[in-house]
Amino acid sequence: MHWIKSVLAATAICALGLSIGAPAPTASAQKSAPTSIAQAEKDQPTGSEWWRHAVIYEIYPRSFQDSNGDGVGDLKGITSRLDYLHDLGIDAIWITPMYPSPGIDYGYDISDYTAIDPLYGSMTDFDNLVAEAKKRNIRVIMDYVINHTSDQHKWFLESRSSRDNPKRDWYVWRDGKGETATDKGQPPNNWQSWFGHSAWQWDEKTRQYYYHYFYVQQPDLNWRNPEVHAAMDGVLDFWMKRGVAGFRIDAVSRLYEDPQMRDDPYLPGHNAYGDRNIQHKYTDDLPQVHDVLKEVRSVVDKYPGDPVLVTEADEPNVQALAKMYGNGDEVQLPMDFQIADVNQLSAPRFRELFNQIENNSAHGQPEYFFSNHDQPRQWDRYGDGVHNDQIAKLMAVLELTTRGTPQMYYGEELGMRTTDPARIEDVHDPIGKLGWPKEKGRDGERTPMQWDSSSEAGFTTASKPWLPIPPSASKYNVEAEKKDPDSIFSTYKLLLALRKNESALRDGSQVSINNDDPDVFAYVRKSGDETVVVALNMSAKPQKISLALESQGIQGSKLVPLYYSPNFRSDGFARIQLEPFGAFVAKVQ
Ligand code: NOJ
Repeated sequence: MHWIKSVLAATAICALGLSIGAPAPTASAQKSAPTSIAQAEKDQPTGSEWWRHAVIYEIYPRSFQDSNGDGVGDLKGITSRLDYLHDLGIDAIWITPMYPSPGIDYGYDISDYTAIDPLYGSMTDFDNLVAEAKKRNIRVIMDYVINHTSDQHKWFLESRSSRDNPKRDWYVWRDGKGETATDKGQPPNNWQSWFGHSAWQWDEKTRQYYYHYFYVQQPDLNWRNPEVHAAMDGVLDFWMKRGVAGFRIDAVSRLYEDPQMRDDPYLPGHNAYGDRNIQHKYTDDLPQVHDVLKEVRSVVDKYPGDPVLVTEADEPNVQALAKMYGNGDEVQLPMDFQIADVNQLSAPRFRELFNQIENNSAHGQPEYFFSNHDQPRQWDRYGDGVHNDQIAKLMAVLELTTRGTPQMYYGEELGMRTTDPARIEDVHDPIGKLGWPKEKGRDGERTPMQWDSSSEAGFTTASKPWLPIPPSASKYNVEAEKKDPDSIFSTYKLLLALRKNESALRDGSQVSINNDDPDVFAYVRKSGDETVVVALNMSAKPQKISLALESQGIQGSKLVPLYYSPNFRSDGFARIQLEPFGAFVAKVQ
């Protein structure tokens, strides 16, 4: 018997008795779960903002669908796959940069913010994509790369042309230490690029250093210059007028640097590029970042449709993350890197982090993801080599049943895995060349979408796609997985439908239960009279649990399963038995 049921079939199957008198959580567990369900419900913001119950899907345009046979994905390709996304249950797509770019950082080095790179198509293709997406109720979120431009952007070309060019101060220029007419001296301080080595690049023509947090070809904009604000606000206006639903703001915590230019403190050890590790103390998270976020918010809020702002900001803790919400006047969805970076299946760790964000001081909406174009895919990070498919489904349940806005990465719904280049000669991403073999770059998580089992996976008609098709595409692809009701794809589809159909999953509050369980992460979602309970066995051993629902004052006489893993058992008294990495989602009635 297939263990995935349709939503309707699931509600018709066995009703399970609820245990009475299950153990109350221990004092220490209560401490880690400070909020009661009643309090959590009170804290729930009201309103019907679409981004609260949307599922966002990240598309890396080079790799999603090629429409013209050049081996690189494009806008027409994305448009041709909108039905697929709609059918899957996606509400919004975030497209990583497809603006003109020399492509050193594969689009994150932008040379024109208000155009489309011909590699991806034309502005007409873009307008058509937005219009077709709208017909399917899918919103389009753009990438707003705000910290730096390409060194080929006309602003930078002007800035570097002479010291007295009007755009000189649009970027961060400094004299070297000990510089003379004949000697460039040393970089102004020890700041390091995230991508290795000094963050300062000597410019011979004007004999100064410019600052770049990322690649040398990505000079940082100077956000202390009001003209930069005006120009970048104009970029927001340009895309808002074309009907986009909002922006994902790149590298936002890196916008400002210490005016005193103090050296960053060193940390023990060396990175993959051979540099001494440093703490980016004087280049990250300066308070002025929040002024910019407020400004971005005020620009997009001039437009209808409740535009959304999502930030990439790998904040060190929930307090820093919570600041990104401001007083409801900054971003609605700061991505939660704490949760994305757990990197091991650990019920206590996930419980702790979900409790923290659930109770964040700003009462902000959480935004969860486990994979993106910068980090190895979740299939590899959480898989144990034995139960990887089962674990992929477990992670899907976690991502799609917790309160917050989930953000998926193309292909995660198939169990796409990271496929790193085997040889340095094959690497595209420059950090993979610089850090080889310790750092192989990010090509592995950017391989083409796996549509079918043909040699080019249905991605392109070219014999050589820009990155090779992973061998796993022969089994893990849309065509094959659609036919299999037990596939990872079918699991995602079922869960996405559940999330839409069950008000508790869509909008409900969330509170952890069974807080002292070292292996099972369990929580309750509640909206009005609707209650759903979720239990996730994060261990390689079968687990028996008794759901401590009454600790949250939840009354009910039966559990109606909505989703459960193979070999799921219950003796009718809420003795729930979960197989290794098994999951269970049920309605309480
Ligand atoms: C974050 C982006 O996600 C990453 O791909 C890029 O390299 C850096 N920001 C620099 O823009």
